[in-house]
Amino acid sequence: MRATSTHSLHLFYFVCIFAFAIRSPAQTDLMKHENVQRGQADYRQSCAICHGTEAMGGVGPNLVQSSLVRHDEHGDLIAPVIQDGRADKGMPAFPLMNSAEISDIVAFLHARVALASVVSSEGLANGYSLQQLLTGNAEAGKQYFYGAGKCMTCHSRTEDLAGIAKKYSPADLEARFLYPPRDSVTAMVSLNSGKQFHGKLLHLDAFYVAILDQDGWYRSWPLQQVKVQVHDPLAGHLQLLSKYTDKDIHDVFAYLETLK
Ligand code: HEC
Ligand code: HEC
Repeated sequence: MRATSTHSLHLFYFVCIFAFAIRSPAQTDLMKHENVQRGQADYRQSCAICHGTEAMGGVGPNLVQSSLVRHDEHGDLIAPVIQDGRADKGMPAFPLMNSAEISDIVAFLHARVALASVVSSEGLANGYSLQQLLTGNAEAGKQYFYGAGKCMTCHSRTEDLAGIAKKYSPADLEARFLYPPRDSVTAMVSLNSGKQFHGKLLHLDAFYVAILDQDGWYRSWPLQQVKVQVHDPLAGHLQLLSKYTDKDIHDVFAYLETLK
């Protein structure tokens, strides 16, 4: 869950120096609330890669201008999007995120909206364009794929990634490459009796764990009664986020786009 890194955030071009430059001292205070700060840290780890460091958009939409975010009250609209995602539209679900983290992120987003209200609309319109992604060198990306990136230890251009550029739009492919859907995370839950259950991990926080077991049953337990072993096949993939340079990203993306 916590695998992305702030390092990866300068990948994109929408670090909004502009917003920082003209905000007044009163607005700066807005960002100093403890939960807003925590929310900002969580946001940067889990959301910024797609929605931009300042939530002004990336492969995902601008959340500062989102009418859903603006109409949200205490997370009533935002929390369901975070928990359930919109898998078909490139917004992943975050079933492992607990309610405290969600409410911090909500606080951060509301603070961003409030802050933006003093920033001129010219700055906000300065969105992110997909064209900027399509500037890499496919040959260099291929070298990275088989070299430094070690992508071939888990993927093959003739098997799982064959035709991937036909399968997804460029925006989806970019999102999946950077942040694949997390539905392959599973857990083994061991009860005191020795009985074990295995299945897709639906929820894990400080208090309870829930899985969808092999037979399709939803099962949950208070954490103190069980032992949980999480298996996350994406851990290795997500670690890459802290290693890529901007150039690597663009080159690999250009290479993936050749897999038609
Ligand atoms: C892999 C990229 C990706 C990540 C990571 C991601 N999002 Fe999204 N998000 C999207 C996309 C794409 C959409 C647009 C979905 C659609 O068109 O309905 C979206 C939509 C949303 C929306 C709805 C906006 C609206 O106006 O309808 C919210 C709110 C949101 N995301 C919040 C978050 C938060 C908070 C996080 C981090 C916990 C996050 N997202 C992480 C890609 C992402
Ligand atoms: C440690 C193993 C590992 C490494 C290394 C790795 N990945 Fe992945 N990657 C995965 C897993 C697991 C998934 C999820 C695939 C799934 O659920 O089918 C994934 C998903 C993807 C997807 C999305 C596929 C889809 O159909 O949605 C792309 C694209 C991708 N990886 C590209 C790369 C590239 C490019 C590299 C190297 C820079 C890389 N991966 C390195 C394990 C890895």
